[in-house]
Amino acid sequence: MTNIFAQRKEKEEKILASMQHIKYLIAVGSGKGGVGKSTIAANLAIALAQKGFKVGLADADIYGPSIPTLFNIDGEKVMGTEINGQSYILPFERFGIKLMSIGFFVEKDKALIWRGPMASGTLNQLLVETLWGELDYLIIDTPPGTGDIQLSLTQDFPLSAALFVATPQEVAVADVRRAVNMYRNERINIPVLGLVENMAYFTPNDLPDRKYYIFGKDGAKRLAEELNLDLIMQMPISENISQTNDSGNPIALDFQSIEGKAFGKLASIVSERLQRGL
Ligand SMILES: Nc1ncnc2c1ncn2[C@@H]1O[C@H](COP(=O)(O)OP(=O)(O)O)[C@@H](O)[C@H]1O
Ligand SMILES: [Mg+2]
Repeated sequence: MTNIFAQRKEKEEKILASMQHIKYLIAVGSGKGGVGKSTIAANLAIALAQKGFKVGLADADIYGPSIPTLFNIDGEKVMGTEINGQSYILPFERFGIKLMSIGFFVEKDKALIWRGPMASGTLNQLLVETLWGELDYLIIDTPPGTGDIQLSLTQDFPLSAALFVATPQEVAVADVRRAVNMYRNERINIPVLGLVENMAYFTPNDLPDRKYYIFGKDGAKRLAEELNLDLIMQMPISENISQTNDSGNPIALDFQSIEGKAFGKLASIVSERLQRGL
């Protein structure tokens, strides 16, 4: 027994030591996949970097790692280094943001059969063994739902806060609730910053004053009320977003665009709330 406790303590100390140069650790979660979690995480990271913060983005979504595509680092080779006999993985860097994805450590078709210890070991590689250096924010793009990755993340890592993403047609309220409750569990007690509604409405480029609520109007508002979450922002369906996602230049880089301004506002809200203390 003592051995297990000693091992656990050693692991905890290693995690805390590796995270001590990171001021805020923020998890981005969702009830299900395909709601735009990675899009929000990536653009939030860019918007924070534009405000002068040192930012890292860790892609922990074993089921659908998409940060490599969003930042055009697909197929790049991961490099390592050694400091004082300790091996580290070097993060990639794009637009001043440090990036690493769990996608570089997993074989694509094996991810689905992962169980606890494997998930937790690979999460450790991603977060502890990557040489993040000094950061103000490390944004973590988590898998949807409440699987083993989230379990390890919430139990083992000193998360500062979580942010949730949902679309207006969020039918699986129970999934979002379960995910939110995981962070709010009294033993874990991680503050939830709020809910971002993605694909909230559509505004055609040639009719910039119109809002078409294609997937219904108050879905996220109701969800937020039901789960006692703050609805922080509503991001429209945007051709610019889907196009820039595919080209490796996320929309927030264009900070004059409507979407870029919205992500700038999201970054202000997130940073102000964290600095004020949640
Ligand atoms: N606001 C948006 N407008 C248009 N397309 C979007 C928007 N948000 C996300 N998408 C697109 O929807 C798909 C899913 O988004 P993604 O961020 O990968 O979701 P998740 O990480 O939740 O699985 C992607 O093809 C992305 O480009
Ligand atoms: Mg994703």
